[in-house]
Amino acid sequence: MNQENPTLTMIREFVALGRVEFDRPFTRDGYDSAQWKLTEGMTAPGPDGKPTEMNELLLRLLEPRAPYFDRLVLDALASGITQVVNLGAGYDDRSLRFRSPGVRFFELDLPHVIADKKRRLAATDFDTSAITLIEADLQTDSVGELLPAAGFDPGEPSLFLLEHVALFLESGAVSSLLASLAGQAASGSTLALTAEVHPQGTDSAALLATADETLFGGTSPLHTIMSRDTWMDVLKSAGWEVRDPTHVTAVDHFEVLVGGETAQVQTQFLTATA
Ligand SMILES: C[S@@+](CC[C@H](N)C(=O)[O-])C[C@H]1O[C@@H](n2cnc3c(N)ncnc32)[C@H](O)[C@@H]1O
Repeated sequence: MNQENPTLTMIREFVALGRVEFDRPFTRDGYDSAQWKLTEGMTAPGPDGKPTEMNELLLRLLEPRAPYFDRLVLDALASGITQVVNLGAGYDDRSLRFRSPGVRFFELDLPHVIADKKRRLAATDFDTSAITLIEADLQTDSVGELLPAAGFDPGEPSLFLLEHVALFLESGAVSSLLASLAGQAASGSTLALTAEVHPQGTDSAALLATADETLFGGTSPLHTIMSRDTWMDVLKSAGWEVRDPTHVTAVDHFEVLVGGETAQVQTQFLTATA
């Protein structure tokens, strides 16, 4: 593979390690120790190769996300959904934590991540028979082709998760992915995603360029940050209707100075129906 952006590697590992710190629910057939087991030996090395220290500031960013997405999975299972599709799943443990009879979990990520996850799953004694791992580059591949080829049934209502992933894709790829997912979403399906949102009126390209320069020294892995209104338009055009659109659920992510004004970027949590 081409060398991955080291900041992306670090963030992928860090968010999984962060979840180990939280008390979380699990199902009767699920494994409470799954996130810990999946991250054994991980250090989330930064671009300098040094392990990332877990600290309160970083945990505060992660803390609201785990319960939001955990709850959605549990609600979907309670409603009888039998397919959970986790896009850019990384080392997310929900396919183990929320293992349930008759429910299949599809996890998509880049080939080297899938290979490592396979290796990590094989090293556990968990029952992984309800997990389908799919190699995918969400920037270019069509999930509309990959999912059915992997046994996904587009006729069944499903839960689609896109947690902390869209910001790493180009905005055009985000739109195509959302439209592709809508094409696989039977009526009654739900999409839950995190969207990086900047204030209305801030120039998205200028903000991304400034963040790249000031926060990442020219190596930013972040590509999609938009106003909430733009996110709403993108989701609507792709065929998704956001639930409770006037209610904002969010955590502050970072600030950058754009055109002399401080722009607060938030991670907003959005849930939509097909
Ligand atoms: C911050 S991690 C989040 C992982 C997981 N959703 C979680 O919350 O633990 C971002 C994930 O998106 C994946 N990702 C980024 N770009 C991708 C691409 N082009 N295709 C597939 N996956 C991608 C990364 O490999 C990584 O696993």
